[in-house]
Amino acid sequence: ELTDITELLLSRIRDVADYPEPGVMFKDITPLLADPAAFSALTDALAAVAANTGATKVVGLEARGFILGAPVAIRAGLGFIPVRKAGKLPGATLSQAYDLEYGSAEIEVHAEDLSTDDRILIVDDVLATGGTAEASIELIRRAGAEVAGLAVLMELGFLGGRARLEPALAGAPLESLLKV
Ligand code: PRP
Repeated sequence: ELTDITELLLSRIRDVADYPEPGVMFKDITPLLADPAAFSALTDALAAVAANTGATKVVGLEARGFILGAPVAIRAGLGFIPVRKAGKLPGATLSQAYDLEYGSAEIEVHAEDLSTDDRILIVDDVLATGGTAEASIELIRRAGAEVAGLAVLMELGFLGGRARLEPALAGAPLESLLKV
């Protein structure tokens, strides 16, 4: 059954060469989202991770982490919290800056959405360098909540995100459905 879902998901991800820049192979998940059977199977698989980790809430990382994380939260019977790029949330926020290859970025969360009782499953589409996930783990901890785990559709193994996240995850699981 596992291989079946792996093949189904893989078959619905489109490789786009030289996007957004020359030399990069972009993984386009829009065909997967457009297929209700594949999207539902993906949601089930990620919701199972939420259940297994004992998560109390799902955090989704802008923007594709919103698309995947929100139905996961509903299916797992949990609330959803968006981690947004800086400047989009109207309330009192916690911010975390992180380095990109060139320059830096900043993500934010509404502080009041997280409580010290929460165990958070972070959901995103792709783990690449791990910079975004690492910053989100830091945000969640600073808010006083616990990180139950990180679940992604796809892990780009050659970029070393898993090794980078090991200290930040501190034993919490990193589940990737597909390893590319
Ligand atoms: C992509 C992807 C992850 C992140 C992974 O998001 O959806 O969130 O990059 O990269 P990293 O592991 O190297 O941090 P992007 O910043 O393109 O945002 P988008 O989903 O809003 O397009």
